[in-house]
Amino acid sequence: MKLPDLNSLCLRTSDGELFILDQTRLPQDENWVMVESIEHMVTLIKNLSLRGAPAIGVGAALCLARFAPSLPSAVSMKNAASVLFHARPTAVNLMWAMNRLALICPQKEITAENILIKAVDIFHEDVKLCQEMGRHAFDLINDGENILTHCNTGGLATVGIGTALGAIRYAFLRGKKIHVYIDETRPLLQGGRLTVWECQKLKIPFTLICDNMAAVLMRQGKINRVMLGADRIARNGDFANKIGTYSVSVLARHHGIPFHSVAPYSTIDPQCQSGEQIPIEDRDPEEVRGVKIGDHKIIWAPNAPAFNPSFDVTPVENVTSHILSHGIFTREDLIAGLHLYHTGSS
Ligand code: MRU
Repeated sequence: MKLPDLNSLCLRTSDGELFILDQTRLPQDENWVMVESIEHMVTLIKNLSLRGAPAIGVGAALCLARFAPSLPSAVSMKNAASVLFHARPTAVNLMWAMNRLALICPQKEITAENILIKAVDIFHEDVKLCQEMGRHAFDLINDGENILTHCNTGGLATVGIGTALGAIRYAFLRGKKIHVYIDETRPLLQGGRLTVWECQKLKIPFTLICDNMAAVLMRQGKINRVMLGADRIARNGDFANKIGTYSVSVLARHHGIPFHSVAPYSTIDPQCQSGEQIPIEDRDPEEVRGVKIGDHKIIWAPNAPAFNPSFDVTPVENVTSHILSHGIFTREDLIAGLHLYHTGSS
């Protein structure tokens, strides 16, 4: 059994092989890389060639399905799942996918065929969940709004239309006039490189800003709503997302601007009671000392001591609502103890 042909903006399968669009080279080059092994996929996830919480879960699942037939036993398939599980620590969608495919399955159910069936299901489910988020967000978004977003949460971060950017796209395509302010998202510029690239392709009107410009726009009344993604949502509604999200949440609260995360149910971690328990990835300080895009590198502060957490945690108090694939959960719902947890559609 080999992988069927699947297509998305950030990954595709063809003739049983898995390819990913190397996001470290965007927007300069659209370079597709064939995944050579489990370890190769771990490298591609670590260096952010494939990134975005849902996309790394789906990509890891398809990678396990691609290489499972060459592994000799259920134990070795489980070991491979565990290697992929540890590729990055914060986005729980990766762990969720590896658990579902192998790590929490009875030994006798861990076969190459079962892994393939489940991986393909995860791909199609992600496409569906993106539509569901778009549907739930639709009524919240008013015609004519200026929406601030952070990082990249579109087709490059999922295998469907996206989470926050997907919801914006969903409303835009159904006739709502929307203008997006895109935070460039230092240090790796997922906003400036990737969200700009997607908005240009989709013809969604936007303005690019540096991360430190959001406050002034809010003070001037130019931002009506904030919508961004999540990498892990704790039981109490605190959530981790790209570094800089917490500052945006503080600004939004100060200015009385609605602030939403948009995420599939696979981003909820029922094991995490609160944001304090979410592991935060620390990345190479070199990313802060300069910029590197494809083969272009400029380092302006060589050897400078630098701090580089990839994510931060936003407390539920700063969240107007989480727009999830299974419905909208407000801060008030969550503080009153409503459970976010959902077991999914399959
Ligand atoms: O380090 P990245 O680029 O993988 O970080 C991605 C984000 O923080 C996104 O906002 C998050 O994964 C949600 S994407 C649908």
